[in-house]
Parts: sequence; C-alpha cells; structure tokens
Amino acid sequence: MADKKFELTDLASGKKSLLPVKSGTIGPDVLDIAAINKDHGVFTHDPGFGVTSATESKITYIDGDAGVLEYRGYPIEQLAEKSSFMEVCYLLLNGDLPKKAELEKFNDDIRHHTMINETLLRFYNGFHHNAHPMAMVSAVIASMSAFYHDSMDIHNPRHREIFAHRIIAKIPTIAAAAHKHSLGQPFVYPRNDLGYCANMLNMFFAVPCEPYHVDPVAAEALDLLFILHADHEQNASTSTVRLAGSTGANPYAAISAGVAALWGPAHGGANEAVLAMLEQIGTVENVPKYLAMAKDKSSHFRLMGFGHRVYKNFDPRAKIIRAACHKVLERLGSTNNPLFELALKLEEIALKDSYFVERKLYPNVDFYSGIIYSALGIPRSMFTVMFAIARTVGWVAHWQEMISDPAMRIGRPRQLYTGAGKRDYVELGKR
Ligand code: CMC
Repeated sequence: MADKKFELTDLASGKKSLLPVKSGTIGPDVLDIAAINKDHGVFTHDPGFGVTSATESKITYIDGDAGVLEYRGYPIEQLAEKSSFMEVCYLLLNGDLPKKAELEKFNDDIRHHTMINETLLRFYNGFHHNAHPMAMVSAVIASMSAFYHDSMDIHNPRHREIFAHRIIAKIPTIAAAAHKHSLGQPFVYPRNDLGYCANMLNMFFAVPCEPYHVDPVAAEALDLLFILHADHEQNASTSTVRLAGSTGANPYAAISAGVAALWGPAHGGANEAVLAMLEQIGTVENVPKYLAMAKDKSSHFRLMGFGHRVYKNFDPRAKIIRAACHKVLERLGSTNNPLFELALKLEEIALKDSYFVERKLYPNVDFYSGIIYSALGIPRSMFTVMFAIARTVGWVAHWQEMISDPAMRIGRPRQLYTGAGKRDYVELGKR
C-alpha cells in the first residue's frame, strides 16, 4: 500500500508540503507534523491537547464515540468479568496475559515488596493529623527515591522491573499508613498471606487489639474497581508521568508527579467531589436546582462525575461500576443506600436534559465508584488515593514503554507568545 500523505498549503505564499500520515492498529490516523516548522516556519497550536497525539503506545485503546476501552487489546468488560487486578497488572506491564506459572511468580514478586522502609514510616509523624492523604501519598512516594537508589538506573531493564514491583507492592502500604495517621491509629504491617486487595483492606481496617477478618466480598469489589482504573492511555496524570520521566528524572519522582496531577477535581479528584456533591444535593427534589447551576456558565458548579474529554458516549467503566453497585450493596447487606438512589435519579434526569444530551455528557468512571468505596468503609478523602493505587500500574507501564524506546526525547511543548514586545529596562526611580 502506498504511503499516505496529507497536503498542507500555505495560502499566503502558495508553498505546499506533504505530511506523512501514520496509521495505528485501529483508531484515527495521525499527521506527522515534525517538518512543518522547517517547511513553513509555524508551530501547531492545540491548548488542552484535544487533537494531539503525543506518542505511539501499545498499551491501551479507547474509542470515545463507541464507548470502547481495551487493555492490550482485551475489552474492559471481559477483563472485569474474568480477570483479576494482579493479572491485569501483568498484562499492562508485559503485553500479554500471564500463564499460570508467570502469574504465580508475579504475585510472589509483588508480595515480597509490600513493606516500606521503617524510616519512611516516620515521615507520617511530620504531617498534620488532618493532612489530605493525597498530600501524604505523593510526598512519601517522592521520598522513596531517597531509599531505593540501589535500583534506580533507568537504563537498566532489571532495575526498571524492580522499581515496578516495588511501587505496585508498596503503594497500598503507603496509602494505609496515611489512613492510619489520619485516624491516629497504629500502623498495620502488610500480610503476605493475603491477596493484594485483602491485604490493603487489612492494613486499612485491622487494629492490634482485636482480630480482623477481611470480607471476601469487599476484597472482590475492590479488585474490580482496581481493574477498571488500572490504565486509561494518555490521560493528564499519565502524560504528567511521561513528561516528568522524559527528563530522565527518577521514576519515583515521576510517579509522585502523576499522583499530584490525579488529585485535581477534573481528573481523579472527581470521585471525592461526586460524593460531596450528592450530599450537597441531598434529595431528588433538589436535582433540578443543581442541574440549572451546572448549566449556568457564571457558576463554578459542574456536575461532578459527568463528562469526559474522550468519551462522547457512556464511559464503559461507569456502566460496569453502576451494575456492580447493585450487586455489591446487596452482598454487603446495604441495599438501602440513599446516595446511590440519588445518583441513579440524577443520571436519569441529566440524560434527558438537552444541555447534557447535546454536549454528550455521560456519567464517567468517578460517578459511581465512591458509592462502592463508601460501602466498604473507605472514607471520602481516601477515594482519590484508591484511584492512585490502581492507576500506578498504568503509570509504570507507560513510563517503561517510554524509557525503553530508543527514540525517546525530552517532552518539550512550544507556545504562542502573546506577551509584551521587546522593551528597554526602566530604572526603579523612573517608573
Ligand atoms: N457539568 C456541566 N457542564 C459540563 C460538564 C459537567 N460535568 N462537563 C463538561 N461540560 C460542558 C462545558 O461547560 C462545555 O460547555 P460549552 O460547550 O457550552 O462551553 C462542554 O460541556 C464541553 O466541556 P469541556 O470543559 O470543554 O470538556 P473537556 O473535555 O475540556 O473536560 C472534563 C472534560 C472531564 C474535565 C469535564 O467534563 C468535567 O469537568 N467534568 C466534571 C469533572 C469530572 O467528572 N472529572 C472526571 C473525569 S473522568 C476520570 C478521570 O479522568 O479521572
């Protein structure tokens, strides 16, 4: 097949150039614009990166119009139904589903890295008791580079692998320590006889003075949520990890930057904001008032958990979580959940409203996840931390993909300068 080209004409000068068109496995083609500055003296301008492909990637595919999400080619619905978070971690990192022995070895590798250096644990005492856990988690992850420099040569594949195992294994421990610090309770050490999510729940909820039994329904629900949050191609936090990592910065610093980016309410912070919003709305009677506020451009209120840059159709993750809410609430014996009832009603009313219909604003992954986290006893301030735990594997997979690409370059966007023209310095006394 002949190479595809795209003709670009500068109407002012009449100068033409041919831009190579690159095709992926699926999805829209992209124009390779690398030569347009040399050929035409211009840059492209795309604030918010709405139509800019920043990298090639083999990890995750989204078709936002069709509501499709695939990890390494596998539909999210199949992974949610049949797989486990550990299996998905292996898949994202290695490209293929593991064979039985490979999965056992991977589980073992993760399990043997769950403890954090005891000195790192003392960091928490430096935080105020009501510090937001995302602040503690991003700071402690950044501090890990001061502890694990024995394996931080980013060009050494074995070091990268050890880093991947360490961060995936330790982030639940780091998160649980933040939770215990907020409560003023003693830290609970990881238990390597438990699975990934069961161990996390044990570290969150066990106390030294009495036995604690992890509810398998809770561990299973968390595992599902972690599968659904594990990766989402070039979203804001993943792009942050890639950009920070592209400078050659150590991977803990890059992941910590990703946690910070995730915290914002337009991104992962939305799950916490959704519950706050539902509590604020309170009853179905108030829904029209809040919908009117969400539509009013002069108010800063948005319907949290609604809308997505890429999905212009139902977010497939939200569909799975909504269905899981019914099952999990029933199995946990908490069927009378007024916030879930309100969320369902809010969705129903919003999806009949022309404002939301015309703009293709549907519930996203964050709309229903907080209902499940709450039912598991996880406090609202920890919701975005849950997202960070699950997304760590995605960040690591993207960082690995970038660093192992021989063509990697530092990420360095350009700009359209609209500031003052050149002017001469005026002495202080003459201004
Ligand atoms: N409520 C009310 N109006 C909205 C909303 C909303 N949640 N989302 C978008 N709009 C409107 C927006 O005002 C704009 O209207 P107009 O065309 O009249 O100016 C139009 O829809 C397009 O919105 P946009 O802001 O240009 O879209 P974007 O792609 O830049 O932003 C978004 C995407 C997710 C940041 C945005 O939809 C939003 O703020 N949603 C609420 C926060 C949220 O739920 N975030 C979680 C995202 S999914 C998980 C994750 O990434 O972590």
